[in-house]
Amino acid sequence: MARELTEVGVVGLGTMGAGISEVLARAGLSVTAVDVDDEATARGRAHIEQSTERALTRGKLESAERDEILGRIRYSTSLEDLAAAELVIEAVPERLELKTEIFGKLDAICPPDTILATNTSSLSVTELSVATARPSRVIGMHFFNPAPVMKLVEVVRTVVTEPSVVEDVEALAARLGKVDVTIGDRAGFIANALLFGYLNHAVSMFEARYASREDIDAAMRLGCGLPMGPLALMDLIGIDTAYEILDTMYKQSRNRLHAPAPIIKQMMTAGLLGRKTGRGFYSYAQRDSAEIV
Ligand code: 3HC
Repeated sequence: MARELTEVGVVGLGTMGAGISEVLARAGLSVTAVDVDDEATARGRAHIEQSTERALTRGKLESAERDEILGRIRYSTSLEDLAAAELVIEAVPERLELKTEIFGKLDAICPPDTILATNTSSLSVTELSVATARPSRVIGMHFFNPAPVMKLVEVVRTVVTEPSVVEDVEALAARLGKVDVTIGDRAGFIANALLFGYLNHAVSMFEARYASREDIDAAMRLGCGLPMGPLALMDLIGIDTAYEILDTMYKQSRNRLHAPAPIIKQMMTAGLLGRKTGRGFYSYAQRDSAEIV
């Protein structure tokens, strides 16, 4: 019988962490959301308020319901506040040293039966697990952007993850209204391993000026029925996140498909990170407008 988790923590309140916190709170769980400073927690809070406001204006949420959801999320700048969490989901940037450090700290703070999950997109869950004294209670729980909308959660088990932990996390995914798929610990898991070669290829096509960004995106939307084109999707994912994922997969597989197209690094250096900074392949000065950079 799966354990019904009620007290959860989220570490990192960027696009994914904020989205995950919202999903958890919407399902009635009590969430402690932690980031490094007040500015970061305020950004996360604003993201969640905006997302639930959008649901309110679309008639998908009642005002009282929205207040309840927002009331279930407590913000903090201290990992110590996760001492009572039954599950912690880490969603900090894709850097192994940073994640390893956080897992070490969480291991010292949380009770031994707390499940430590990572939302990593491409790093090794096994490597993170051995930064703790409880590798069998470490698991991958990979959400997709935007987390409140996308139905999938990839549950990543390592060779030592306890079956009961997989069961608890799968049961939670179902309570969140998600569909889970389970996979072993390979770079990119299922979806990113298949998606990012395609995204990278689209960026190379744009970089070589074979076609305009609008035409590349239109081809995949209108010709292949995808909800958004690859360059718009890169902007949604975040150029920095996309770079980290490609770089990690390339280092692991040496598959040329994943060697990040040079323009991705250049955009990252120039701060063109996509929607979150207002500019990427497109400009978002006016919401969702598509101006040439
Ligand atoms: N937060 C919350 N809700 C959002 C949202 C957001 N950021 N963006 C859209 N929504 C909701 C809207 O409120 C709307 O809800 P409703 O149907 O209940 O009214 C619904 O989503 C549809 O939104 P819109 O009508 O505004 O726009 P679209 O129909 O174009 O949908 C989209 C937007 C859902 C983003 C759609 O374009 C899409 O599915 N795009 C592909 C996204 C994708 O591929 N994500 C995976 C990326 S890879 C990844 O995340 C892995 C990671 O490791 C990098």
